[in-house]
Amino acid sequence: MKVVKLSFVLILFFAINAYPLSTVPGTLPKGTPYGAYGGRPMAERNLIINVDHRPTVSLNGKWRVIIDPYENGYYDYRYLPSKNGYFKNAKARNKTELVEYDFDKSGVLNVPGDWNSQQDKLFFYEGTIWYKKSFPLPRLASGDAGASDYQGKPNTRVFVYFGAANYHSIVYLNGQKLGEHTGGFTPFNFEITRHVREPRPSQEGSPSAVSSGRTNRVSSIPTVHFDNEGRGEPRPSQEGSPSAVSSGRTNRVSSIPTVHFDNEGRGEKDNFLIVKVDNKRLREGVPTLNTDWWNYGGLTRRVELIEVPETFIRDYFIQLKKGSLKTIAGWIQLDGKQTSQTITVEIPEANVKQTFNTNDDGYVEFEFDAELQLWSPENPKLYDVIIKSQTDSLTDSIGFRSVKTEGTKILLNGKPIFLRGICIHEQAPKSKARAYSKEHAETLLGWAKEMNCNFVRLAHYPHNEYMPRTADRLGMLVWSEIPVYWTILWENESTLKNALSQLTEMITRDKNRASVILWSVANETPVGDARNEFLKTLVERAKSLDPTRLITAAMEKSSEGRNKPVINDPFGQYVDVLGCNEYIGWYEGLPDRCDLYTWKTIYNKPVIISEFGGGALGGFHADKDTRWSEEYQEYLYEKQIKMLEKIPFLAGTSPWILTDFMSPRRPLPRIQDYWNRKGLISDKGKKKKAFYVMQRFYEKHKQNEQ
Ligand code: GCU
Repeated sequence: MKVVKLSFVLILFFAINAYPLSTVPGTLPKGTPYGAYGGRPMAERNLIINVDHRPTVSLNGKWRVIIDPYENGYYDYRYLPSKNGYFKNAKARNKTELVEYDFDKSGVLNVPGDWNSQQDKLFFYEGTIWYKKSFPLPRLASGDAGASDYQGKPNTRVFVYFGAANYHSIVYLNGQKLGEHTGGFTPFNFEITRHVREPRPSQEGSPSAVSSGRTNRVSSIPTVHFDNEGRGEPRPSQEGSPSAVSSGRTNRVSSIPTVHFDNEGRGEKDNFLIVKVDNKRLREGVPTLNTDWWNYGGLTRRVELIEVPETFIRDYFIQLKKGSLKTIAGWIQLDGKQTSQTITVEIPEANVKQTFNTNDDGYVEFEFDAELQLWSPENPKLYDVIIKSQTDSLTDSIGFRSVKTEGTKILLNGKPIFLRGICIHEQAPKSKARAYSKEHAETLLGWAKEMNCNFVRLAHYPHNEYMPRTADRLGMLVWSEIPVYWTILWENESTLKNALSQLTEMITRDKNRASVILWSVANETPVGDARNEFLKTLVERAKSLDPTRLITAAMEKSSEGRNKPVINDPFGQYVDVLGCNEYIGWYEGLPDRCDLYTWKTIYNKPVIISEFGGGALGGFHADKDTRWSEEYQEYLYEKQIKMLEKIPFLAGTSPWILTDFMSPRRPLPRIQDYWNRKGLISDKGKKKKAFYVMQRFYEKHKQNEQ
């Protein structure tokens, strides 16, 4: 009997390994290493991608806030985390009870938005601000395909999603801690399915649950706005008083009673989401203490509730296989109990319909050929790609292009391309605020297009998702970077962990964007063994997550003697493309110095001059030798271009920078006033003379390419 049992187990073992579950047509050839396309089993990541195409409830709008410089809402007087912090949303239950804060009588801030540009008193503020948003459970129209009422409805889960929050966030729902996130420029989400409060019977179907300014992408699901925080713009004299305020909005909103009468927010009928956001700069942080950009704090990007089926399509990677112009390769990751499912990937316009089976981890890798129009700046072709599983379906608009290097050339879809670029900070156009919206993205990238650019370097951190998605649509190639900037703590383990997680989140969010061709792991970091090792680890992670794109970093030149700049940073051996920042004619001599320089590199790799330029106060005119005049900046650009045109291994340029941007390192009165003035467009949105120098240079390049 024992022998029979043993032989049966052996037969079963060989059978499974002979035919792994996922070998259906189009899935990877047998023996392809697991995770060959950067995918990893679910446990390692929980970020939900492509929020734009999922049913969401927006929590944008006014949030109640408590400014807490001493973190009194988090620590007790012994500086130990308090169990009774502000996350409890407590209220005095009677006239004797002592509660020394009250969200609903506190001020409001807009979300998305940095706090520094919203209130003068917060302009220089670095520290903690507590945000509170109450939201009743929206009852979604029942019976709509895919629509569901997630309380009590089987097979539905809810997540709260943050586009970004600078810098360290702790998130609570109904007094319960959901989790923490470090890093100010990448998204994160927490599951709230088990934490969400059920609406009380009296609230069932109350008309107030629905209002919607914004059109909803997933047609059947209404998008819901709740702003019972501020109830529209509070009139100054009535700031904080709950009921007196009324807004231009229809009254139905104000009919929801906001009830407060005990200290666990229990009296509050709504769910209350509380976020402690702290933008204090840290030596071990990423970035570290000093940056040449404003340390905007707050819930700087959108906040959404995402509703998904119990097992949903959480993450996927669908791009052309490295080096191929027709083979699509990638993976799909389900999240939930029903891990083994049949999945189809459809690209109707390209007559593609492929079916695969996920394994026990809810994961499948695949590759298949397709006849595609390739995405390029001239033809930014995007396809609707529909992923369907047995429990979920999701659409995305994806472009397919290949990018690689050959010697000192960058090849896009097999052809050499010169990157006509410009650097951009996430500065809202004509504003002191951080950019966050689609409109901001369209304006900034529109200006770059006007300058005849086909490439933008998004510095020095991952920008909001509207930037790469708009770049996809407009046909703009993108360099995306994590804020490993200047001199961070190379030997600090938590610093490395932090940088790795920001890198992973950046790549996870944008890996399906055709526009993104370069992942940058650093900017102007000092050569040294610990630094090289640190950056090497980042490159390995980037390559393991995404084998299809090029890796780079903005490095600095050194010199082989006077006027002999050379690119020989030892870290250059680990990247595909070398970025080099130089400020000849601004920090290094005067513009004429450019005429003397002959550039060299020790690498047979493409070089992008990833920063050059100088400052000018928009509208200040003088002779070309007067710093801060538009004429000085214009002359500097003319001289730079002459020098750059002589560099044989130059594959692209991205001058510093498209628009003036806020920086605490720039106090010069009546010239800078905390603006870095190296923009080619002023803080008022006015183009400076140097803008046209670049526009002409890139026009000439464009002509030559044709
Ligand atoms: C540096 C740096 C930028 C900075 C710029 C400047 O090279 O990378 O972040 O703003 O120079 O000095 O203006």
